[in-house]
Amino acid sequence: MTGATSYNGAFTVAIDGPAAAGKGTISKAVAAHFGFAHLDTGLIYRACGRRVLDGTAPEAAARALRPEDLQADGLRNPEVAQAASRVAAIPEVRAALVEFQRDFARRAGGAVLDGRDIGTVICPEAEVKLFVTAGDEVRAERRYLELCGNGIEVTRADVLADLRARDARDAGRDAAPMLAAADALTLDTSDMAIEQAVAAAIAAVAAQLPRS
Ligand code: DC
Repeated sequence: MTGATSYNGAFTVAIDGPAAAGKGTISKAVAAHFGFAHLDTGLIYRACGRRVLDGTAPEAAARALRPEDLQADGLRNPEVAQAASRVAAIPEVRAALVEFQRDFARRAGGAVLDGRDIGTVICPEAEVKLFVTAGDEVRAERRYLELCGNGIEVTRADVLADLRARDARDAGRDAAPMLAAADALTLDTSDMAIEQAVAAAIAAVAAQLPRS
């Protein structure tokens, strides 16, 4: 399914939604299909949260962040996820990370960014905006299987509680809360196979791409 189109201008696909709704899989598949670059912005906050767990002050951690920090080991573990969600509520942390994300979004050749505030704050002018969601128990089960698959020991109950705590913090904060943009297409993946969700996202992007 890759390389269906190649595109030389800037073209931004913003994909927002709560944890484990399928954003990551959909974003990677859309990027691969259209030959766009992909940025998982959650990794930025995770890398920042990691530094804060190691003792750095939040704003200093955000300012010191380097692209290679996004490759660090252990960013997917639940402790780092919670730390990411906490630092992400600090306005100065978010402000320090805006420029990097906007530059990525407008690079030549097209870009897909997934996160919580891409369609609302980072790229309100994105050509395509999707809000990918699913019921919390469905999402918790997906995340539980993913964490177990990565050898991380967790219980289903803990995963559900962590996910609900993170959703509440991410949606309830004052600074760039998780929110569907008014002009976003919502994809509820609760009862969808991932292939269906990917196909719907690709169709939404294809409909907006200028024809060459
Ligand atoms: O997408 P993720 O689960 O890896 O994100 C980790 C945390 O980072 C999430 O709980 C909230 C925060 N985040 C954010 O506030 N804004 C983004 N654009 C992406 C993530």
